[in-house]
Parts: sequence; structure tokens; C-alpha cells
Amino acid sequence: MANGVEQDKALQSIFYKHGSLQLLDQRKLPFETLYLDIKDSQDAWVAIQDMVVRGAPAIAIAAALSLSVEVSKLGDFSGTASDAAYFLSDKLDYLVSSRPTAVNLHDAATKLKEVVRKAAATVSDAQTIFQIYIEAAEIMLEEDVASNKAIGSYGANIIQQQQKDSKNVSVLTHCNTGSLATAGYGTALGVIRALHEKGILERAYCTETRPFNQGSRLTAFELVHDKIPGTLIADSAAAALMKAGRVNAVTVGADRVAANGDTANKIGTYSLALSAKHHGIPFYVAAPLTSIDLSLPSGDKIVIEERSPKELLNARGGLGEQVAASGISVWNPAFDVTPASLISGIITEKGVITKDGTDCFDIKSFAEGVSTSTMNKA
Ligand code: MRU
Repeated sequence: MANGVEQDKALQSIFYKHGSLQLLDQRKLPFETLYLDIKDSQDAWVAIQDMVVRGAPAIAIAAALSLSVEVSKLGDFSGTASDAAYFLSDKLDYLVSSRPTAVNLHDAATKLKEVVRKAAATVSDAQTIFQIYIEAAEIMLEEDVASNKAIGSYGANIIQQQQKDSKNVSVLTHCNTGSLATAGYGTALGVIRALHEKGILERAYCTETRPFNQGSRLTAFELVHDKIPGTLIADSAAAALMKAGRVNAVTVGADRVAANGDTANKIGTYSLALSAKHHGIPFYVAAPLTSIDLSLPSGDKIVIEERSPKELLNARGGLGEQVAASGISVWNPAFDVTPASLISGIITEKGVITKDGTDCFDIKSFAEGVSTSTMNKA
């Protein structure tokens, strides 16, 4: 058992024990299981930027724990408690700069900075501050799995309720939002896991998720590993699949959800939502409250990461041989924003946020009903 979580090591992206962190190199999956040692925040920054670890919750937790490992080895730190808090804040800001779109890392950094800032006001030695930081980061790792299981349960229930003729359901998902993208179980893929556990999943369809193939490499790997009936489709086959009546619901993850429910997620999510709307298929976003950014009234201001042209020009998301014509220019946004009007509900660990007949979600009101310490405030 690692991470305080019972799970098969094949699907464990983050392997943490006090003083040591290993990340499963997701670029090598599904063919090779290779864990890379992460010694400090700089190793983590590179691992996040290079997609060794990806998925909004996993990025946040890996970053936070890399700093735990770094400070656990700083026995000779000569500063005061305030110096230690400053040191940690500075490193957290650096880690946040690794990938801009997912808010979870920003959220984790803000909460951890607050923990050490408050602690530095009451304790005087640096090592105690580091210990307090380590404990706070370790709690984030443990809480993520519980939160995902709650998302899975709420999501499976709402999808089951919406099936009036109570037949089994087939669900389409995009990118990878499973165990590999989180500390375990997953968000949108957690909903699919929960439907399967309830015995009411007919089939999960996963898109390839070009250009980095998180769907064909990672989601397909998780479905096969867990013996969940799954079918891989090309991204461009989704509308035809819906038209053929083979999908009862779509469930996707989120990298950042604005206060009105507009949702940034893996490029291609917006097309799926448009298609689902056209075919009258419910479209759910499944995400922890740490993915919600109440400081943004709508999705217009969400910064969309653009990645290397190589991801399109070369096979295997840029890791293989060149396949595109030399000289062509490339636009490669990693994410898009799906307007709230196309989203049927946002499944969180505290329940499903719905719309009450308008085009937008009132997430602020929902947040007021749950512990506000878990939310990214306006
Ligand atoms: O570029 P990636 O692989 O980090 O993108 C991942 C996604 O878009 C996921 O849907 C999102 O982070 C949610 S993961 C639970």
C-alpha cells in the first residue's frame, strides 16, 4: 500500500512515501511501466511540462509532493520560520508556472501558501514549517481518492436516474480522467467505474484524444485493466456514434470551471458537447471543487495552453517519426472551453450542480452551501 490508497500499482501515477516521490512516466504507457524519481520541485516542473504526469488533479498533487520531498532533505536550512514560508511560496509559484490552464495546481499552491503563512506567525523554527507543509501536502493526496469516489457515486446515480426505461447505459468519455490523472479512481472515468460497479454499464466508449492520445493510450489501458467493457473510437467518429443511438450520456473531466459553469477541458470537448446537444444526449462535467475557479465569471478569460507543433507533426503525440508535410504551420491548443449552455450538470464530490432552467450554473450559490474552504474564491 502506498499513498494510503489500496490500488494496483499499474494504475498508480503517483507513488509517494515520506521523503520519496516517483511518477509513472505516462508517455511510455501502455507498453512500458517506468517510474521516474522526483527529487525536487525542478524535477516536478519538467515532469509536468513534458507530460510525464498529466491530468489536473495529478499535476497538483505531484507538484505539492515534490516540494515535500525537497524540504524533507533540507536539514541544513539556516533561515527562520518566515524564511522557510517564503522559500516554500517561491517554489510553489514556480511550480504553478509549469502548465497554465488547470486551476487545481494554482488552488493547491494557494492553500499550501496560506497554511505556511499562518504557521510562520506562531512557530519560530524552519523545520517545523517544513513539517507542517509536508503534512498538508500529504493530506491532499489522501483526500483526492475519497473525493473521486464521491464524484463517481453522484455521477452514476444521476445518469441512472435520467434513464427512464432503466436499461443499462453506454457512456462516451474523452481524454483520460481516471486513476492515472488523479491520486486514484478518477473523475469522469470514476463515474464510469461506479456505473460498472453498480452493474448498469453497458459499454464505455473512449475517444483517441488526438494529438497526445490520452484516450487510446491511457483510458483504453484503464478500461482493459479493470475489465470494463470498452470501445475505442476516433475523435471524428463521435457524432456518428451518437447519431447511431449508441450513447446514453457523455461524461468528461475539467481543467478549470468558471463561476457560470463554462468549462475548459481537453481539446475536442467542445465538439463533443455540441454533438451531444444536437442528439439530445446529456453531457456531464465531472470534477472536484478544486477545479472550480470562482474568480472568473465566465470561460472567456481562461488561459489556454498551446503546445508544441511536434505533437501534430510527428506520430505518438510528437514522440515518434514525422507524419505531416514539412513546412505546414500548426495550431495546437491543448484545451477548449465548452459553454455552460451545452452542459447538463457538473458532478462534484458534494453533489451535482444543475441549472434551474437558465443557460448558466450558479456555482457561487452551490459553493455557499458547502464548505467554502474547499473552493477557489472569487
Ligand atoms: O493535457 P492533459 O492530459 O493534462 O489534459 C487532461 C484533461 O483535459 C482532463 O480531462 C482534466 O485534466 C481532468 S483529469 C481528472
